[in-house]
Amino acid sequence: MLLAQITDCHVTCPGRRAYRIVDTVDALRQAVDALLALAPAPDAVIVTGDLAYDGRTEEYEVLAAELGRLPMPVLALPGNHDARGPFREILGRRFCPSEDPQFLHFVYEFPETTLIGLDTLVPGADGGVLCSARLAWLAKAFTRVRDKPVILALHHPPFATGIAHMDRIGLANPEDLEGLVRRHGRVQRILCGHVHRAVQTIWAGTIASIAPSTAHQVALSLDPAAPSSFTLEPPGLHLHARLPNGAIVTHLLPLGAWPGPYRFSEYAA
Ligand SMILES: [Fe+2]
Ligand SMILES: [Fe+2]
Repeated sequence: MLLAQITDCHVTCPGRRAYRIVDTVDALRQAVDALLALAPAPDAVIVTGDLAYDGRTEEYEVLAAELGRLPMPVLALPGNHDARGPFREILGRRFCPSEDPQFLHFVYEFPETTLIGLDTLVPGADGGVLCSARLAWLAKAFTRVRDKPVILALHHPPFATGIAHMDRIGLANPEDLEGLVRRHGRVQRILCGHVHRAVQTIWAGTIASIAPSTAHQVALSLDPAAPSSFTLEPPGLHLHARLPNGAIVTHLLPLGAWPGPYRFSEYAA
């Protein structure tokens, strides 16, 4: 299994910039170009939320066109900047695999791994939640996939990052998710977005990570009083690879242009 993860694209309507600065449409184009250049190609791409800037129909039309350049399955989850209505309507079954009439959660089967996507969106709120209906859905999904290890994906991280202003708008009820993850016991990875930085920790007995945004990054400051701000550091994507020995390794690919690659053998002194 080779699973690429992009997140927090914040795609605007054409001609607009996010926060008057970031050309998020061009940033997504570069991310899609990088995904197309990967060899071997990923088996699937997960998009862990905040696809759109304002949740507008026109933004999802741009997203559908850009993501439509990818030949592999693309599995999208909503974040706090998304709106379920246009998300489902415009992205359609091609990018939004949910079979639930209300929430945009889904189960996707790789031959040796099950990917479960969770919907943590609370309309009008920056933070996320897993309400009783969504927790019940997850509990049921866990019982159906007992034979394979699981990768969980959700927009709002269930763990603190030390970036205080982002931690205040994380997942409101991580303890509920933790109980289900520990009881299932076969969750190999938890993949998140929302924080616009690459972050890793051990949480609920498994490895949890956040991928960087394809566009702007949240400024790195562990000062509890730091203001909420963003930078134009290099964006990136994550590549989660299941190796033949069953281990999953995660690689960070920065997005941009730079010299190389150079063959060591040709440039050895
Ligand atoms: Fe975001
Ligand atoms: Fe977010």
